[in-house]
Amino acid sequence: MRMYDIIKKKRDGGALTSAEIDFFIRGYVNGDIPDYQAAALCMAIWFRGMNAEETANITLAIRDSGEILHLSGVDGLRVDKHSTGGVGDKTSLVIAPVVAALGVKVAKMSGRGLGHTGGTVDKLESFAGFRTDLSVAEFERTVNETGIAIVGQSSDLAPADKLLYALRDVTATVDSIPLIASSIMGKKLAADDDCIVLDVKTGSGAFMKSVDESRKLAEAMVDIGKRAGKKMCALITDMDRPLGNTIGNSLEVIEAIETLKGNGPEDLRELCVALASHMLCLAEKGDLAACETDVRRVLASGEALQKLADMVEAQGGDRRWVYEPERFPKAAYSREVCAARSGYLTHTDAEEYGRAALLLGAGRSKKEDVIDQSAGIRLLAKTGDRVEKGMPIAILYTSKEALLDAAEEALDAATRIEDTQPTPVPLIFDTIL
Ligand code: URA
Repeated sequence: MRMYDIIKKKRDGGALTSAEIDFFIRGYVNGDIPDYQAAALCMAIWFRGMNAEETANITLAIRDSGEILHLSGVDGLRVDKHSTGGVGDKTSLVIAPVVAALGVKVAKMSGRGLGHTGGTVDKLESFAGFRTDLSVAEFERTVNETGIAIVGQSSDLAPADKLLYALRDVTATVDSIPLIASSIMGKKLAADDDCIVLDVKTGSGAFMKSVDESRKLAEAMVDIGKRAGKKMCALITDMDRPLGNTIGNSLEVIEAIETLKGNGPEDLRELCVALASHMLCLAEKGDLAACETDVRRVLASGEALQKLADMVEAQGGDRRWVYEPERFPKAAYSREVCAARSGYLTHTDAEEYGRAALLLGAGRSKKEDVIDQSAGIRLLAKTGDRVEKGMPIAILYTSKEALLDAAEEALDAATRIEDTQPTPVPLIFDTIL
């Protein structure tokens, strides 16, 4: 078999066999296939796409490129939720404790921030001492004893994805449905959960900017998971504006804690309720309505909050921070951003708001950058709200005063205020079962 022929076949619109896909993935991981040929194939896939069978086959090849996590010591069905990436998306911090409080095991592998989007692992590290690098034995023990653990993605899992993602990132081939679907699902299948709920974001802050494209991505991922024997569903949710009222690591953790007390911003709370209810439903805890009632109960009773405290303690943090969030270090500098005119907020561009948070130090521009855990943005007004000229619409936080000007400029440019109130957009556009 020759890589040249595989590239040519895809370039001309052919469908690759499972043997050809395995040849590519195996050869790329072991270094036999050079970057330029892998990049050429990614670009051919970007233009020509892949059918459902090819997409499933490349996912399995990515899964099989490394170890598969077998948490054999964990009893009961394991359930996970995965978001395709968003701004202000702290749902995992809420949902995982909720589901665990209702007796379903959560053994979650999460990522770090990617581009303008935040990552759960970075957020959890806002708790001083919190360890996301547990060994498999520690991971298993924590899940069995506490019902929940969230760790970073092991580099032994799906190494093909790491290589391919880095290549796609610099060759303008990230935004391809089969490549995104196989990248996400390759890692998810390697983590070997029984049930997976996908939160597929749509809008300015998402990889997929339109609902139609997001639906196609969701359908592709649900199909891959089902073919691999997993119980699957996907929600298509709004990411045209940031989720909740905060962007940035410790700000988001504090907002998640508020939500676990049954408070928190309505959009965040309602999305968490929907995602957690679907997770419980897949884990056979009842029908959707009964699961939703259970979710609201553990949010109101404090049981879910306690689960978060248990997890923080089990992973090396101080549980008192969950009950006394004023213990999180505060940013040294802050600045209010005020409305440039009176009217309605018609657009708060999620991607650009994410980039403004990066400018304040809340994320990494380069892999080796150190995150400023207290940096970020608090939104005082959201898309659809009436604002008056000069009224504060957001507060910027950072440890470096010099970063405030650029972030304020970026936020201003990403904010539109107009005379007419915009039509409300749904939080959840569709559910793919
Ligand atoms: N997230 C991933 O893990 N992979 C992609 O390709 C896009 C988003």
